[in-house]
Amino acid sequence: MILILNGPNLNMLGTREPQTYGSATLVDLEAQCEAWGAELGLAVSCRQSNFEGQLLEWIQEAEEHGFSGIVINPGALTHYSYALRDAIAGQRLPVVEVHISNVDARESFRHVSVTAGVCRGKISGLGFLGYRLAMEYLQDILGN
Ligand code: DQA
Repeated sequence: MILILNGPNLNMLGTREPQTYGSATLVDLEAQCEAWGAELGLAVSCRQSNFEGQLLEWIQEAEEHGFSGIVINPGALTHYSYALRDAIAGQRLPVVEVHISNVDARESFRHVSVTAGVCRGKISGLGFLGYRLAMEYLQDILGN
């Protein structure tokens, strides 16, 4: 089972800066991830929070709750949250970082990810498809 986490402001997909993030909503994204999971034979659980501490707790508890990998779009926490970095580093599940937009083509503060270095890898700029590619990677390394 794969945990798919979306961080701050991703509940606003659809209305939030549509020129950057598109017009599809978080509900659309989560439905898409569930459909991809069904196609790939991967059970998925999608969660979103605007609260850093909630994300940390979900990551800390993921293994004991039966997850085998995590896909995370940490939103702006990517760029400054050492607490999120430490939560990822402090557990054993493989984690893939995803960004809908191409963060490297945007403001310079978005070029820094303090979390990517403790993830298996980072996918950026491929829209919602990045989540699917992250799921395929996890499926591959988990040997499903
Ligand atoms: C984002 C990129 C971040 O810089 C931004 O703060 C977000 C969304 C993305 O998916 O492109 O909230 O993670």
